[in-house]
Amino acid sequence: MARRLRYPAIPSSEITPESVYLRRRSLLKAGIVGASAAAASGPAWGDPDTGGEPLDYQPAKPGNPLAYTEEALTPYGDITRYCNFYEFGTGKEDPARYAHEMTVDPWSIEVGGAVARPGKLHLEDLLSRVDLEERIYRLRCVEAWSMVIPWVGFPLHALLDRFEPLGSARFVAFRTLYRREEMRGTRSFSSIIDWPYREGLRLDEARHPLTLLAVGLYGKTLPNQNGAPLRLVVPWKYGFKSIKSIVRIDLLEEQPATSWQSLAPDEYGFYANVNPEVDHPRWSQKFERRLPSSFLRPNRIPTQLFNGYAEQVASLYRDMDLTRYY
Ligand code: MTE
Repeated sequence: MARRLRYPAIPSSEITPESVYLRRRSLLKAGIVGASAAAASGPAWGDPDTGGEPLDYQPAKPGNPLAYTEEALTPYGDITRYCNFYEFGTGKEDPARYAHEMTVDPWSIEVGGAVARPGKLHLEDLLSRVDLEERIYRLRCVEAWSMVIPWVGFPLHALLDRFEPLGSARFVAFRTLYRREEMRGTRSFSSIIDWPYREGLRLDEARHPLTLLAVGLYGKTLPNQNGAPLRLVVPWKYGFKSIKSIVRIDLLEEQPATSWQSLAPDEYGFYANVNPEVDHPRWSQKFERRLPSSFLRPNRIPTQLFNGYAEQVASLYRDMDLTRYY
């Protein structure tokens, strides 16, 4: 397996087990333990083949609407085993099975287009200049399942600012790594996407404080199947906007073509804001299955406008017809 990102190292004996993490979270809520990133000791949790290195970060504080929710966290095993990452296959468990074939170290990210200082940054350089923080977000997939995930990352605007976007920039385009020899889904005859996977945002969406570049979850570096070493998380949009394993970002004057919109424009819009009032042409978006769920306990809950982040983001779309710009 590829060497994992070593940044910043805490002895692996200090990895927080999930049960301790959850307990710590309730203690934090009660104000009993301090908001320090120092991890409690205990046995390592997670799958050792996919679990990453512990990260140094500021935990989410209860009551912070940008970073915290009272909802139960989706267990680590569900987040890391039930994935969409078509580069490794279309089955939900394919990414967990095959994404270890992707080399994520070394990693660099190139930023270009309408910026004053285009260039390439090594991941270690980037991470040495940002403060990592925890953001507990709902993730709502367009397929009508959802999770609650404790990400670790930093706001996207912190990266964009370094490259000094020009006044003419109005959109941001993202691209995933495309390495056929390491991504068996891209070699498949049944592959439907024109690789590399592409996504995009309006610049004001990209600069919104909720928009996160995640490098970890549950306090550790991202498993490959969840988009290691660096992925986007836009919590008020359907999950397909949250592009994984990013290698390139361009600032643009025109709206970029994106993978799912190019594939089926009637079904997947550029905006893709979570909206229970705008159904997918083939299914309703009014409800979602909160994972873990099963046949006997479907755990079906109503979907919220902008995935529950309306207070933070509705103003971005004030004069727009959301049925037209879906
Ligand atoms: N990014 C890439 N490069 N390839 C993909 O297939 N799938 C998207 C998104 N990012 C995808 C991607 C979809 S449809 C969803 S729902 C989320 O990733 C799922 O993220 P998760 O597997 O970490 O839950």
